[in-house]
Amino acid sequence: MFVIYVLIYILLIAVFLFNLYLVIKFFEYLYCAKIKHQAPLVASSGVSRRMVVEQIAKYYNKSKNICEIGSGFGGLARAIAKQTNANVYALENMPFSAFVSKICDCLSGGQNNHTVWCDAFEYLDKTNKKFDVAIAYLEPKTTRMILKYKNKIDVLISLDFEIKGLKATRIIDVSKDGYTIYKKIKYPHQLFVYEF
Ligand SMILES: C[S@@+](CC[C@H](N)C(=O)[O-])C[C@H]1O[C@@H](n2cnc3c(N)ncnc32)[C@H](O)[C@@H]1O
Repeated sequence: MFVIYVLIYILLIAVFLFNLYLVIKFFEYLYCAKIKHQAPLVASSGVSRRMVVEQIAKYYNKSKNICEIGSGFGGLARAIAKQTNANVYALENMPFSAFVSKICDCLSGGQNNHTVWCDAFEYLDKTNKKFDVAIAYLEPKTTRMILKYKNKIDVLISLDFEIKGLKATRIIDVSKDGYTIYKKIKYPHQLFVYEF
């Protein structure tokens, strides 16, 4: 009987923690979308992630520093870190997302992935690092802001959002995998690779 009580107790704690996770995630999403007017946490698709990893392996495998601008829970940054020796910096400004990302970093045991809780643009303003590749899955206006950092970033891989007026070096079509809806507009899954 005692064992059953303990199991029920553990189950209740697990349900409570899971609900807490959903509630915090929901409020962080609302805060991003309605107050900060920035891209909220929507994880990139598995296929897009694989394509990003492939692009890096094929064209940028000598990279030393890679950053992800707006990394959410850091899944994409960790997938890249696993396949390369580069230091991968996951830049995320939402505290809960950055916290979850840091925990997942520790659990993954990787030595080359680093979650940084910061506004990615303030970080890029201050850092002396140069990034061989930056990855972004944001929204059109914020993606364009990355152009300001061309002196610190050699290549930008933007998921789904192109920079209007700038010719991409490569466009990889992942649209069979679906699309992102942002402000009621559908953006097919594509990678836009810009070599600066
Ligand atoms: C669409 S999600 C992408 C998540 C992740 N990159 C992925 O591919 O699964 C965008 C993320 O960027 C973050 N973000 C938006 N603007 C940011 C900024 N200026 N600095 C840091 N993070 C930002 C949001 O909080 C959100 O987690």
